[in-house]
Amino acid sequence: MANSDEFEKFISAEELEQRIAELGAQISADYAGKDLLLIAVLKGSVIFLADLMRNITVPHSVDFMATSSYGSSTETSGIVRIVKDLTMSITGRNVLIVEDIIDTGHTLHYLLRFLKAREPREIRIVTLLDKRERREVDIEVDYVGFVIPNAFVIGYGLDFDEMYRNLPYIAIPKEGFFGSEVE
Ligand code: IMP
Ligand code: MG
Repeated sequence: MANSDEFEKFISAEELEQRIAELGAQISADYAGKDLLLIAVLKGSVIFLADLMRNITVPHSVDFMATSSYGSSTETSGIVRIVKDLTMSITGRNVLIVEDIIDTGHTLHYLLRFLKAREPREIRIVTLLDKRERREVDIEVDYVGFVIPNAFVIGYGLDFDEMYRNLPYIAIPKEGFFGSEVE
């Protein structure tokens, strides 16, 4: 397990808390008097979802999906597979997809097509992080926490090889991190 001196704090817990409160307030205002179903994409978005939904003051329900993309642990391949489907029907509902990070956009592009086929009333997207400069397919994102540069980030739900999701902040691994051996 790498030490904290192997990565650099990039977005602090306080900054996350403040921005998520703003997102929650904006979403609450936009969905006042409307139906709302949050769909979180496992696993990376669970920490964000948990904090975001406590900042959303309008009634809403939650459901989960899981996707997996073929490729290495730091790059997505563009081939997406649904590994866990929703348990609720989304037909006629106002869906808000909750994502941890949008990178190339392939995952969401696929997911949007998949969900639109079920004829929801509307689909919007909220993402905590947006690596906009990496985009390979165009995605219209309604709510963005932070636009970040092209760097691999960990923490606050985001993993490297299924680890570091528990960091309470977003961090950028330092040089040598990816090659470091787990003891
Ligand atoms: P996309 O399909 O390229 O947009 O990739 C989206 C998915 O790749 C995210 O939901 C994450 O699971 C993963 N991902 C992309 N960038 C990062 C990162 O910097 N850290 C951790 N996971 C990432
Ligand atoms: Mg994800």
